[in-house]
Amino acid sequence: MIKKITYGAPFDTEAVTGAYESWQGELPYFSQEEGRKFSYRMAEEDIVFGLGENVRGINKRGWIYESKCSDDPNHREDKRSLYGAHNFLIVDGKECFGVFFDYPGKLTFDIGYTDRNVMLIEAQTGDIDVYVIEGEGPEDIAKQFRGLVGRSYIPPKWAFGYGQSRWSYMNEDEIREVVKKHREAGIPLDSIYLDIDYMVKYKDFTVNEETFPDLAGFAEEMKEQGIHLVPIIDAGVKIEEGYDIYEEGMAGGYFCKEEDGSEFVAGVWPGRVHFPDMLNADARKWFGGKYKVLLDQGIEGFWNDMNEPAIFYSEKHLQEVFEQLEEFRGINLDNEASASLNRLVGGLSNNEEDYKLFYHEHKDGRVRHDKVHNLFGYNMTRAAGEAFEELEPNKRILMFSRSSYIGMHRYGGIWTGDNLSWWSHILLNLHMMPSLNMCGFLYTGADLGGFGADTTEELLMRWLELGIFTPLMRNHSAWGTRRQEVYRFTQTGSFRKIIALRYCLLPYLYSEYMKAALRDEMMFRPLSFVYAGDRFARRVEDQLMVGESIMIAPVYEQNAKGRYVYLPERMKLVRFRGPEDRKEEVLEKGHHYVHIALDEVVFFIRPDHLVPMSKGGSCVEKVDFDHLGLLGFVEKEGSYELYDDDGYSRDYESPSHYTQITVDAEGRISSGGEGSRKEFYLI
Ligand code: GLC
Repeated sequence: MIKKITYGAPFDTEAVTGAYESWQGELPYFSQEEGRKFSYRMAEEDIVFGLGENVRGINKRGWIYESKCSDDPNHREDKRSLYGAHNFLIVDGKECFGVFFDYPGKLTFDIGYTDRNVMLIEAQTGDIDVYVIEGEGPEDIAKQFRGLVGRSYIPPKWAFGYGQSRWSYMNEDEIREVVKKHREAGIPLDSIYLDIDYMVKYKDFTVNEETFPDLAGFAEEMKEQGIHLVPIIDAGVKIEEGYDIYEEGMAGGYFCKEEDGSEFVAGVWPGRVHFPDMLNADARKWFGGKYKVLLDQGIEGFWNDMNEPAIFYSEKHLQEVFEQLEEFRGINLDNEASASLNRLVGGLSNNEEDYKLFYHEHKDGRVRHDKVHNLFGYNMTRAAGEAFEELEPNKRILMFSRSSYIGMHRYGGIWTGDNLSWWSHILLNLHMMPSLNMCGFLYTGADLGGFGADTTEELLMRWLELGIFTPLMRNHSAWGTRRQEVYRFTQTGSFRKIIALRYCLLPYLYSEYMKAALRDEMMFRPLSFVYAGDRFARRVEDQLMVGESIMIAPVYEQNAKGRYVYLPERMKLVRFRGPEDRKEEVLEKGHHYVHIALDEVVFFIRPDHLVPMSKGGSCVEKVDFDHLGLLGFVEKEGSYELYDDDGYSRDYESPSHYTQITVDAEGRISSGGEGSRKEFYLI
């Protein structure tokens, strides 16, 4: 049951596509003031789930968060927002309900920060749609919410392979070398990401012909080796006479303007840029159509970046700062003076005041950017998604974005932005997975190994042991940091085995992803969603359920030789050192210390559940999805519903994609359903 309560005249974010009841009565659960402050008194036992991409735990209680898409590469615990704005929460405890604050500007979520028993949500204005969802428990509420906001994006199957990325792959030869090294070492690989360096002077939809003289030919050459090239697209369009995108944007009036009607000028990678007005349908159509330039060269995937939008400086503010800097010349820079100098210069980037300088021409009228700030990245990705539907109606194109708002999940996935090579960020990655799934973001993952700062072999290996379960599995790092392609380390063989295991698990992971997307369900669930009555399971913050059959408990501490794991029921522990070396052990419900060597992947199978596995392959195309081994923990009868399809077309609905598999206590396998051409064997 979903009730919508409207305060004032909210902006239409187009996040909601499903059915609800317009509720005329009082707002349930909350008391409200001015239609912009909403408070709920929490009971001692209440857990608060949600908020998608954000800092801190799975249980969001105990901190204050902001919905304000921000370009901030320091994901420290004391931050309040990251790149996305995901305003959905589930309260689970004395009362159980979900709530979505559909509001495109800044929102504050004080969840027991000021008063540990009070949740206070505050919007800037009293124009907001609030959706309250009641159901049978958090899982049901999350599913209803997902029905409300529409089906999650589905990527091509190859996008479930391993991807290698780095900001600073400068030319074709460097990429050839990276691919060659992976192939020589037998490390499976499906994609190489092109960061900003493939462009001419960071100009969108251009390719540097000196370093990438024949992108179409190169893309073809890579495809022959099973590799997809995935270029980045940035939000800002370089201001440069003669650059077609700039000139078309100017001619069409597609860029964001200031109050006086002149185009807003910001600084990003290329220097001075204009922002396409992503909230204007005509501008969106124009910008989306530009992806064709790369699609025509054989490109099948993209990542959209800097779309909060990130602003290094605004032209206006920069001039003011230059003038004010004069005041510092020649003076004694004491404590106060040097602090204000730093503030002055440091305040140039992503300054809140700059977001008040430009406007959007939306179908419902002109709107100042800061009031709809959180919709920019969403609509950039929507521009691409809508274009792909037209340009490639029956082909899936990979798309994921840095910034997002709920609603964007229909057009693309997200990566979780510029994390660091910190141990705590492995855990942060884990925490975000269920929170993002609730909000519709299924195709997601972190920069494995860490983006900023220098990684270590141990950190990367442990992170990959989590990453082999996340739909987006990409090793990405920043220019200037230690190189972290796995073949650069001493234990290449161990990396190979860990990544190979991802390919063995693909039939299961892909099936779980697709069922979650098609049924509005979560692929990554907190233990408490599954074992609601178990007081230990309810509090577990470092283990997750991955799909129907598996629980994971990754190691996220330096020098650890294992970790404590809580088993909410009797489970089978499976220990892999590569696909060929597997050990199993049944463990009883309760707390266990589990030894996990650095090169081991451990997961747990629920009783009477199965995990279909392939024999692996050097890329997704080479994986045989038709002859599958069944790994299971069968006590009475194990069963599994397998989803599989061609992985490329958009025909998701056919019953022929499903196979029902059962294994009885004697190990007899039976399979049925329209997709039953597949063959299964026990492993
Ligand atoms: C941003 C992105 C990062 C990328 C870099 C250069 O920081 O988040 O992934 O490598 O820009 O394009």
